[in-house]
Amino acid sequence: MVLKMRSRIQVCMLLILTFCQICSVSALTNGLDASALQALKSEWTRFPENWKGSDPCGTNWVGITCNNNNHVISISLGNLNLEGKLSADISSLAELQILDLTSNSKLSGSLPSNIGNLRKLTTLNLMECGFSGEIPESIGSLEQLITLSLNSNKFSGTIPASIGRLSKLNWFDIADNQIEGTIPVSNGTSSPGLDMLLETKHFHFGNNKLSGDIPEKLFSSNMTLIHVLFDGNQFTGKIPNSLGLVKTLTVLRLDRNKLTGDIPSSLNNLTDLNELYLADNRLTGSLPNLTSLASLYTLDVSNNQLTFSLIPSWISTLGSLSTLRMEGIQLEGPIPILLFAPTLLQTVVLKRNQLNSTLDFGTNYSKQLELVDLQNNEITIYKPAANKGIQVILADNPVCQEAGNQQSDFCRTIQHNTDFSVPQINSCRCVYPITGKLIFRSPSFSGFSNNTNFIMLHQGIADFFRDPSYQVDSVAIRNFRETATGHQLLVDLLLFPLNKESFNQTEMNSAISAFSTHTYDPPAIFGPYIFRADQYRPFSGGSISTNTGIIIGAVVGAVVLVLLLTIAGIYRLRQKKRAEKATGQNNPFAKWNKSTSSVDAPQLMGAKAFTFEELRKCTDNFSPANDVGGGGYGKVYKGILPSGKLLAIKRAQQGSSQGELEFKTEIELLSRVHHKNVVKLLGFCFDRNEQMLVYEYIPNGSLTDSLSGSKNGIRLDWTRRLKIALGSSRGLAYLHELADPPIIHRDIKSNNILLDESLNAKVADFGLSKLVGDPEKNHVTTQVKGTMGYLDPEYYMTNQLTEKSDVYGFGVVMLELLTGKSPIEGGKYVVREVKAKMDKSMNLYDLQELVDTTIIANSGNLNGFEKYVDLALRCVDGEGVKRPSMGEVVKEIENIMQLAGLNPNIDSATNSRTYEEASKGSGDPYGNEIQ
Ligand SMILES: *[C@@H]1O[C@H](CO)[C@@H](O)[C@H](O)[C@H]1NC(C)=O
Ligand SMILES: *[C@@H]1O[C@H](CO)[C@@H](O)[C@H](O)[C@H]1NC(C)=O
Ligand SMILES: *[C@@H]1O[C@H](CO)[C@@H](O)[C@H](O)[C@H]1NC(C)=O
Ligand SMILES: *[C@@H]1O[C@H](CO)[C@@H](O)[C@H](O)[C@H]1NC(C)=O
Ligand SMILES: *[C@@H]1O[C@H](CO)[C@@H](O)[C@H](O)[C@H]1NC(C)=O
Ligand SMILES: *[C@@H]1O[C@H](CO)[C@@H](O)[C@H](O)[C@H]1NC(C)=O
Repeated sequence: MVLKMRSRIQVCMLLILTFCQICSVSALTNGLDASALQALKSEWTRFPENWKGSDPCGTNWVGITCNNNNHVISISLGNLNLEGKLSADISSLAELQILDLTSNSKLSGSLPSNIGNLRKLTTLNLMECGFSGEIPESIGSLEQLITLSLNSNKFSGTIPASIGRLSKLNWFDIADNQIEGTIPVSNGTSSPGLDMLLETKHFHFGNNKLSGDIPEKLFSSNMTLIHVLFDGNQFTGKIPNSLGLVKTLTVLRLDRNKLTGDIPSSLNNLTDLNELYLADNRLTGSLPNLTSLASLYTLDVSNNQLTFSLIPSWISTLGSLSTLRMEGIQLEGPIPILLFAPTLLQTVVLKRNQLNSTLDFGTNYSKQLELVDLQNNEITIYKPAANKGIQVILADNPVCQEAGNQQSDFCRTIQHNTDFSVPQINSCRCVYPITGKLIFRSPSFSGFSNNTNFIMLHQGIADFFRDPSYQVDSVAIRNFRETATGHQLLVDLLLFPLNKESFNQTEMNSAISAFSTHTYDPPAIFGPYIFRADQYRPFSGGSISTNTGIIIGAVVGAVVLVLLLTIAGIYRLRQKKRAEKATGQNNPFAKWNKSTSSVDAPQLMGAKAFTFEELRKCTDNFSPANDVGGGGYGKVYKGILPSGKLLAIKRAQQGSSQGELEFKTEIELLSRVHHKNVVKLLGFCFDRNEQMLVYEYIPNGSLTDSLSGSKNGIRLDWTRRLKIALGSSRGLAYLHELADPPIIHRDIKSNNILLDESLNAKVADFGLSKLVGDPEKNHVTTQVKGTMGYLDPEYYMTNQLTEKSDVYGFGVVMLELLTGKSPIEGGKYVVREVKAKMDKSMNLYDLQELVDTTIIANSGNLNGFEKYVDLALRCVDGEGVKRPSMGEVVKEIENIMQLAGLNPNIDSATNSRTYEEASKGSGDPYGNEIQ
């Protein structure tokens, strides 16, 4: 009996022990947090694929960030096609600071009412999801909250008064929902209201069903609001006088409501105001004198019931005015000539008034003026402006009744064209960009025919995403258009993945949160914005897991768990085998590795397939000591073969490798390139999920290193610089004119020109290169690639890639050889500097000051200098067609060398054919190397 008891206890002990071993191995994440995440996952029918196992912190679940104590502090899962409800168990994540589920339109249901338990939450970002129901009152307990974005959901009910308690709230966005009722304001200490939000900068309430008066009490001089967006609601009553107390306001949108009464003159106190939209209300009285609004870009008071009045004379004193809309407000009398005087004025819409007599622009009108729409007025005489670019619409005016005018352009009701694209992008079959719309809720400009603003926008976004952590290759924007109602500006945005087909979930999330957390800031004139992402195609199918079957795991006991784990293990093994089998079938290298087939192998033209093991050995296990540089693609290691031969091994970093077929295409292409001024591909490695390219090792590093003298202590005199220019131009001319198929380099810069032991230049890095005229690959031309400072402005503007873009980059390198500085230094661009400084009537074009002191100190004469400058400047001509071809550049540099007393062929004749010999050859300059 006793014995039996003991053995029973032993069995129990054993079980407990086993169980605890499981616990201690797997439960690194705080237990409560882990089970909260499991609960979250169990309510989702789609969730990230790597949400597996029981240790979210330890196994790096996508979107989960933990602190040192293994508590979850951030959940950030933007645009991952999640589906399901938000579990109430989320409230047990005691340390959670960020909850960002932006752009998951299939997340639905209501917010759990205990969400107020997340006491440490600073960011609650649920924009562009499918949540519904009321916003819980408990949200007012999130005392640390700074960002609250609930916009573009299906929330209903009223705004909880408790939000007034969020004393740190900066961003408050509930736009585009079904929220109704009045705006809560405080009454004594017991009932809070939004008037208490003194730290809040943004009230974005547009496009809801809010009603009642906008309370006078809402605004005070202690507030720091900059954006008040109440447009598209059902507010009634008067515009509160107290708005004039909020001196920090820059955007005020009250348009599309049912407001009545006078426009308060206190608005004239808002001297920082950029945008004032009062259109589509029932406002009465006359316009107050708003002459103090010296920063006002947009004034829109259209469609109100104002009393008859003349065009107020103070309007022409608004020095920043860019858009004036006063449609249908009973304006009468003549149009003052001075109305068109504000120097930034672009758009004037005065439709449906009773303006009479003469439309006369005079001579002192804005040079920016694009559109003057006076449809449906009483204008009898039209004196056109000298500037024919202004679109004037006078249809339905007496002046258009006259026989002579009826057919005139200005008597048509043509729509202002606001739709154009910079740059053009063809849709792309084999790359999956993140796409979506940038929605600017109140831009400070209206003319869309001047694309400076959009180029600025593009440049800014491109610069922002250049940060390698985003893994964004390039950025495109297109289709600028205005919404039919509400004057919001829409722009399509595309973000292309770096060196691969698609973004992974982590990268998607970081790109989305750059917008949802407003880490990215557009130029100020674009005003408040949101980014509405489209569903990302790669995630709509296989890369997200669904929850069928896995739910069982949550309810079974420990013993069964072990069993399940075993089964899962077997399953995984089978999956892996299946995956390996599948890889074998698709693997374009499978045949070559066996090196049995003689059909595919010649395509590689001498490049050797290295194993991972070989390369690991020859780089000392990829030791940091052998790391000689790298870029967005990955790292470059120096390696040494048992034979003593040196290698440069370019290793694609995890996640930036390309598809197998692309990789195959690239090495096929590179292996066909043979020229003494182009770095030679020796082989590749396609093994263990790694992609590596193996090049000959070039001992003296890059031209950048030599110019800055930073690494190798080489001093380049004038002669050597001419030789480097000649060598690299020959390499490039070979790629353009003799390689088959021809290759555009796309990233010519001093960093990609390497110097061998005799300082011969070799063009390197074809990571970005592309075949010319290969129809299948044409879409690649449409992503702007390259490096700032070397980038052809024409390519940048038009996205049309030609060899001449390389010529531009080469011109910049020539100038860099001259000045010894990087092309953009201290905000100065070498191309502009040289052009500005140069005086052709002087010796050395008077450029001594810009020339690298090393040249002056180490060179005898600088013969050929002026011709060299002429050539460089022709290469950087703004228009591609005016630039020389690389073949012409080579000839010209050879001439310059002769002027400098050098024989351009002296070095090259000994070990390899020169460019000229090659070009005289059979047209297949590497023909004899194919066998
Ligand atoms: C404020 O509270 C007082 C008493 O608590 C009440 O009489 C009054 O009507 C309230 N005012 C508003 C505007 O709700
Ligand atoms: C504004 O702040 C000042 C000082 O912080 C305070 O005395 C005043 O009562 C506040 N005014 C309003 C309207 O809240
Ligand atoms: C604000 O506007 C009102 C009404 O025009 C005016 O009486 C008041 O002096 C202004 N306040 C300030 C601080 O400018
Ligand atoms: C508007 O106000 C300014 C400054 O207060 C004043 O100089 C100007 O005469 C006023 N204009 C009109 C038309 O009332
Ligand atoms: C223009 O309109 C004003 C105000 O309605 C009126 O007094 C004036 O006579 C009109 N002028 C002409 C030329 O019709
Ligand atoms: C376009 O806009 C920019 C900046 O707003 C301005 O400097 C430039 O003169 C404009 N160009 C034309 C052609 O209006």
